[in-house]
Amino acid sequence: MRVFVTGASGWIGSAVVDDLVAAGHDVIGLARSDASAAFVEAKGATALRGDLDDLDSLRRGAGGADATVHLANKHDWANPAESSRAERVAVETIAEALIGTDRPFVVASGVLAAETEPSPFVGPDSMRGGSENRAFDFINQGVRAIAARFAPTVHGMHDHGFIASITEVAKRSGVSAYVGDGSNAWAAVHRSDAARLVRLGLEQAPAGARLHAVAEAGIATRVIAEAIGARLGLPVTSVALEGAVAHFGFIGQFFGRDMSSSSTVTRAAYGWKPTGPTLVEDIAAGAYDLPDPAVAEV
Ligand SMILES: NC(=O)c1ccc[n+]([C@@H]2O[C@H](COP(=O)([O-])OP(=O)(O)OC[C@H]3O[C@@H](n4cnc5c(N)ncnc54)[C@H](OP(=O)(O)O)[C@@H]3O)[C@@H](O)[C@H]2O)c1
Repeated sequence: MRVFVTGASGWIGSAVVDDLVAAGHDVIGLARSDASAAFVEAKGATALRGDLDDLDSLRRGAGGADATVHLANKHDWANPAESSRAERVAVETIAEALIGTDRPFVVASGVLAAETEPSPFVGPDSMRGGSENRAFDFINQGVRAIAARFAPTVHGMHDHGFIASITEVAKRSGVSAYVGDGSNAWAAVHRSDAARLVRLGLEQAPAGARLHAVAEAGIATRVIAEAIGARLGLPVTSVALEGAVAHFGFIGQFFGRDMSSSSTVTRAAYGWKPTGPTLVEDIAAGAYDLPDPAVAEV
């Protein structure tokens, strides 16, 4: 298949490109800079210059492909409303370009609902601009919309996501903290397993499928903090829920929440079996040793 990937230069997107290319697909990766274009092309994909704010580039990419994977996200933590707006508009634009085609359209999402349940986020003012439900609105117009719901940590060597933020806070504060008693758990998946699931979804999933990229259903956040503390040689401590944002910054809104999930339905439907390292194994192997440049700006 000829597959258009937005976010092809990103953390998950670059692994998806690798997986698709290895499986023999032709990949067109959206790239908003020379550096991102060069990165994507070095992987064996073709770069399509464009931007989330250049809606015509999204139309051209999706319109010229047999399948689309939408992973680009502004991730503007200082202005989440703008990230949500852009996410919703991008999904609407791509879906409109695919009306009547029945071509797969995989949309990135999160796991804050059970596998068999719709996303709780509806409408432009909700998280991610309600983009998963918005994509599914187009199913009855012949768009094969599929949600790729990623665990809150898609980990691997040099991950710059949420666990990198939590690790940076530990380095700066001199303690590796969890919130409350740390019994709330997070689901996790290795980047390579998440990428393979995206490909399996493109190749097999029907409209309305919700792919749960979840290898570990729930790791207690206390266990995550202990693994970070052990790797960094730092004491492990609790912070109160009321003080979580003061201690962690924006990530404090999430680290005290239970974000466990499951993938039983997904595994059975698509023959997906995660094989990558666990989150604790990655932490112990030094996946978060390097400073995260994005976190340094927060
Ligand atoms: N990583 C996780 O643990 C996780 C968990 C749950 C859900 N997700 C979701 O999965 C998706 C992919 O996440 P990720 O971790 O791979 O994100 P990421 O590493 O931050 O990558 C974001 C991608 O979007 C591109 N991008 C950003 N702004 C853009 C713009 N204005 N126009 C065009 N492209 C733009 C980036 O391009 P440049 O390379 O040029 O900057 C990059 O390719 C996102 O929707 C994310 O919210 C991720």
